[in-house]
Amino acid sequence: MAISRESEGGKWVLMTTAQTPTNIAVIKYWGKRDEALILPVNDSISVTLDPSHLCTITTVAVSPDFEKDRMWLNRKEISLSGARYQNCLREIRSRANDVEDKEKGIKIAKKDWEKLHVHIDSYNNFPTAAGLASSAAGFACLVFALANLMNVKEDHSQLSAIARQGSGSACRSLYGGFVKWSMGKEKDGSDSLAIQLADEKHWDDLVIIIAVVSSRQKETSSTSGMRETVETSLLLQHRAKEVVPKRVLAMEEAIQNRDFVSFAQLTCNDSNQFHAVCLDTSPPIFYMNDTSHRIISLVEKWNHSEGEPQVAYTFDAGPNSVLIARNRKTAVSLLQRLLFQFPPNPETELNSYVLGDKTILQDA
Ligand code: ADP
Ligand code: DP6
Ligand code: CO
Repeated sequence: MAISRESEGGKWVLMTTAQTPTNIAVIKYWGKRDEALILPVNDSISVTLDPSHLCTITTVAVSPDFEKDRMWLNRKEISLSGARYQNCLREIRSRANDVEDKEKGIKIAKKDWEKLHVHIDSYNNFPTAAGLASSAAGFACLVFALANLMNVKEDHSQLSAIARQGSGSACRSLYGGFVKWSMGKEKDGSDSLAIQLADEKHWDDLVIIIAVVSSRQKETSSTSGMRETVETSLLLQHRAKEVVPKRVLAMEEAIQNRDFVSFAQLTCNDSNQFHAVCLDTSPPIFYMNDTSHRIISLVEKWNHSEGEPQVAYTFDAGPNSVLIARNRKTAVSLLQRLLFQFPPNPETELNSYVLGDKTILQDA
């Protein structure tokens, strides 16, 4: 690993490791009102996945031997010169405190953090930049690990406002369960942060299955895609002002009451409207592919034949499908249907299924 190699023969190195899950939005964030601070045009709501499945693991280290800040992502060195990394590093450094490791005899005074450099080694255990929210897990983990290393005392909601400056969706990965990113009103973004709506135990009947339709890197990143949408889509204005505010209230109520019928309808409608907004962008952005559309049809037909929703689907900025089953029994049936219609096969596009939740296969 990069970090241990760098510290060989040096004075000392202090390091810490964090693991952070990804999150999938059920009411989507798409569009910024402030690009630099990453302030959204609407509130969003997500569910945080179980960290044992899709997660980022980040080790951060500090040593007087390090000559500059450096970062490795998935074992390759990347540049930290971008504004997003710089903003996160600056915000955390400015909140650093004294750190003492008595065993190693290391003492770092608050003022020393401005001069010391860090090395960051980050690994995503799932496809990066493929529409499974690697930027969310990645920046949440980076901010959390740096905050631990530098003994930052801020609570999770304040850390979420820092992670937001790395990637908007990252602010929601600081909490488990159901999380709302409140868009905020302040110009400086101080009130644009994450709030936990319900913890991971609140609705533990739900089972999440992710169909990895393609692990390929998407052609249009979320950042540039939503910029083009803000510049060209009229539908986005209607969505942000008229549709999402009402949907967010309805979704909060559905989550509080564990009302699966409303939850599923809102989730599917919001995913479809987000992709409609992408189509309304000029030139149009296609994140879903034919397999994604066939998965939607499978779920819609099944839900219709049962008389009410059994499964909700949602797609982020990529073709991969996140399916939320109302309970374990439904999840087993869903998996059987998927395996029958879309057998995992390296020759086909649909290559694997991942559980977003740890509950299903043990008891099924
Ligand atoms: P995704 O759908 O995977 O979130 P995005 O286009 O939103 O795709 O973001 C991908 C970008 O997020 C990567 O190119 C990289 O800059 C950043 N990123 C991904 N993983 C990490 C990580 N572990 N640590 C820091 N940044 C990351
Ligand atoms: C479709 O958070 O990746 O996943 O803020 O520019 O880094 P940046 O974008 P990002 O966008 C996520 C968009 C989405 C919906 C969502 O997660 O709410
Ligand atoms: Co992203």
